[in-house]
Amino acid sequence: MRVHIYKDGARIGKAAASLFAAEIIKNPGCVLGMATGSTPLPTYESLVELYNQGVIDFSRVRTFNLDEYVGISRSHEQSYYRFMFDNLFSKINIKPENVKVPNPASPNLHDDCVSYDTSIDASGGIDLQILGIGNNGHIAFNEPGCVFSFGTHIVDLTESTIEANKRFFDSIDDVPRKAITMGIGSIMKAREIIMIATGRVKAEAVKAMINGKVDPQCPASVLQLHPAVTVFLDEEAASLL
Ligand code: GLP
Repeated sequence: MRVHIYKDGARIGKAAASLFAAEIIKNPGCVLGMATGSTPLPTYESLVELYNQGVIDFSRVRTFNLDEYVGISRSHEQSYYRFMFDNLFSKINIKPENVKVPNPASPNLHDDCVSYDTSIDASGGIDLQILGIGNNGHIAFNEPGCVFSFGTHIVDLTESTIEANKRFFDSIDDVPRKAITMGIGSIMKAREIIMIATGRVKAEAVKAMINGKVDPQCPASVLQLHPAVTVFLDEEAASLL
């Protein structure tokens, strides 16, 4: 793991967007793995800026998102599908047919999980994946105690994740209890990974991810085993290292 510490989230956004931009310039038809949450927002803003400046072109880029809530529609303002269009896809020239987000409305969710992994493989695999981290060390929605070899699957969210994500909903009762998520097995296939974390609330999880043992109790710790991970932290997230 290469670990870089920056003053704030805006600088991390620029650094992470630079790696994306380099990938797109090197390989205009690349496959990008996208994440939601508040942490990648400055990265997406910087990508839109680079697109507006004519530095990068998304017309051949394909994307796969990590996860989606089960139980809310794609048009719900907290769906990850909507999040991606509101914050990135509607602001760049990516083709909607090149964008994939797990679809929880499908009548056969189990088959859909399998075909999500199949379509990632058929695309040639993810070249560059961005990840955030949950306060409990989760990545995507792989919660503590997950099985590292799993592909895309359905998960029950932990109380800690429901609690952390309630800030986006009117009340805690509105937070979905289940999600569809790429598994650690799917994520580890990405050729290169960017992990970003900001804020004191992430410091314990970041410490376990980098300095702890590789342990399903901290799903992000598996990244110690991946050969090409760049970690961008702000000073608060890095404060326990
Ligand atoms: C959610 C997402 C994760 C994300 C995490 C942290 O649970 N499934 O992919 O990394 O939240 O979100 P935030 O960046 O808002 O702290």
